[in-house]
Amino acid sequence: MCGIVGYIGGQQVNDILLTGLQRLEYRGYDSAGIAIVAEGQLKVHKQKGKVSDLVATLESNGQLQGTLGIGHTRWATHGFPNDENAHPHTNVTGSFALVHNGIIENYGALRQKLKQKGYTFKSETDTEALVHLIDDVQKATSLPLEEAVRQALTQVVGTYGIAVVSVEDPDLLIAARMGSPLILGVGEGEYFIASDAAPLVEHTRQVVYLNDGELVVLRRSGFEVRTIDNVKLEKQITELEWDLEEIEKSGYEHFMLKEIMEQPESLENCMRGRLRLEENCINLGGLIEVMDDLRAAERVIICACGTSWHAALVGEYLIEKFARIPVEVEYASEFRYRNPILREGDVVLVISQSGETADTLAAVREAKQQGILTLGVVNTVGSTIARETDAGVYLHAGPEIGVASTKAFTAQVLVLTMIALKLAENRTLTDAEMAEALRAVSQIPDKVRKLLELDKELCNIAHSYRFANNFLYLGRGFNFPVALEGALKLKEISYIHAEGYPAAEMKHGPIALIDRFMPVVFIAMKDRTYDKVVSNIEEVAARQGSVIAITDEGNGELDKLCEYVIRIPHTEEFLSPLLTVVPLQLLSYHVAVMRGCNVDQPRNLAKSVTVE
Ligand code: F6R
Repeated sequence: MCGIVGYIGGQQVNDILLTGLQRLEYRGYDSAGIAIVAEGQLKVHKQKGKVSDLVATLESNGQLQGTLGIGHTRWATHGFPNDENAHPHTNVTGSFALVHNGIIENYGALRQKLKQKGYTFKSETDTEALVHLIDDVQKATSLPLEEAVRQALTQVVGTYGIAVVSVEDPDLLIAARMGSPLILGVGEGEYFIASDAAPLVEHTRQVVYLNDGELVVLRRSGFEVRTIDNVKLEKQITELEWDLEEIEKSGYEHFMLKEIMEQPESLENCMRGRLRLEENCINLGGLIEVMDDLRAAERVIICACGTSWHAALVGEYLIEKFARIPVEVEYASEFRYRNPILREGDVVLVISQSGETADTLAAVREAKQQGILTLGVVNTVGSTIARETDAGVYLHAGPEIGVASTKAFTAQVLVLTMIALKLAENRTLTDAEMAEALRAVSQIPDKVRKLLELDKELCNIAHSYRFANNFLYLGRGFNFPVALEGALKLKEISYIHAEGYPAAEMKHGPIALIDRFMPVVFIAMKDRTYDKVVSNIEEVAARQGSVIAITDEGNGELDKLCEYVIRIPHTEEFLSPLLTVVPLQLLSYHVAVMRGCNVDQPRNLAKSVTVE
């Protein structure tokens, strides 16, 4: 949700900012801008549209020279995506510029107060109120800019990741965060700040994670971190694990396709060192200290949003099956606002690819406040949720750049599978059963590899349905959450209305929608519910619905009922979401490409939803 980048050092900053913004564009892409301090001037260029539009304008106007600057790619919260509302925003005299990710919740009151003091507003953004507030504090106190920024932030209610540069001090970059992520990159006589690690990797691997309520003052000679309350802090420099290759498309047309195709490897990475076939056990280092509490849990509450919430639903089936611990799955956004009843013995487990989702983070904080053990299943190393939960398991899926989550989902389900099996160790599974389960898990990456060969077939199917207006996805048991995920994938990237349902629920309403214009995707794996699902397929076929079924290799029984049958490798029922979701990802991808949609940057969406 909005990307921020900043640089101070000896290199020309123009390209650093623009490349950084391109790497951050998945966080928001309705407008972009940069501000550069050079030769006694603060030069700002910002405009509606993608970063590529900004690059084209700057190329035709001549690059901005300078070695200090900030940039922003926006996902609009307050005010239309237009040139005026784009960031950076400047104060009235144009002496300093600011970029902001987050929401200044008391901007209305601030705006009114500042207007009374004579400030005029050029934009509709909440951010401009902060700019004028800093200006007002500085005028009233004659304090240095960094101190004025700090004092202004004490008056702000809401969330922010900000960066500020000023023409009056060409050796100063100020950044601060509250609820919106910011990372500091440390180089030789140069520093970077960014909303996440993507713009940093090609420059440095040394990073400092800023926490909420912290402000950093960067000069070419060094940096100092203070709290917004003005307490000096010593921060630890940590090593970034990302590779540049991981955040590039590597020959693929879209990040989404690359990430779908990477799943055999991301799943292997996720299980590496954790799945111990010889020792017949699971090793989850991040949970060792809390394992006794987790085993003794009376109830596990899983909170997440979007695709991660779908993984949570699979987790519910897995943990209840293997650990026999009751599980409740909550939308993080609902959990946080309804004063949830938490009791001793509860464990709150949150799932988040980015580790920055505002609602999921708020769920962690709510649980912690009530003294409840919190666990995180997170992809982004060093993210806020990873740092704030008591313990957790990283996905090790590598950076996910495509806005539609794919490889993170399968890695989340795999981690939840490993957690469930760990809880079953010496409890609900015999040694032989555990060995059988681990063997089946270990075969999953190869099975995904094999089913990715169906890409061409799925592309053909997509061609037949590219003009559909609606889609229904139906599945049961472990594959009900996959039906939800299949529908979400399609709607978010192709803008086709799609719904997911438990297959048996169809008769309680959605069946009314069935006619020859309604494609229905059935997940019909040969498991306990297969016969029931086949009856549902019959019901749809009888009403001329057009059925696409996903079933096991070698199963020819559905051919007469279905328009298309996608046959995938067989696995244990509890592992089938790891396979069944993949053709649905590919189907959505191809439909969206054929409809001319921007797959990696779907309209209105942003990866990492750091506002409520
Ligand atoms: C859908 C998608 C979103 C995210 C959701 C949670 O493809 O990507 O629904 O799953 O915004 O994000 P994280 O997992 O980062 O908390």
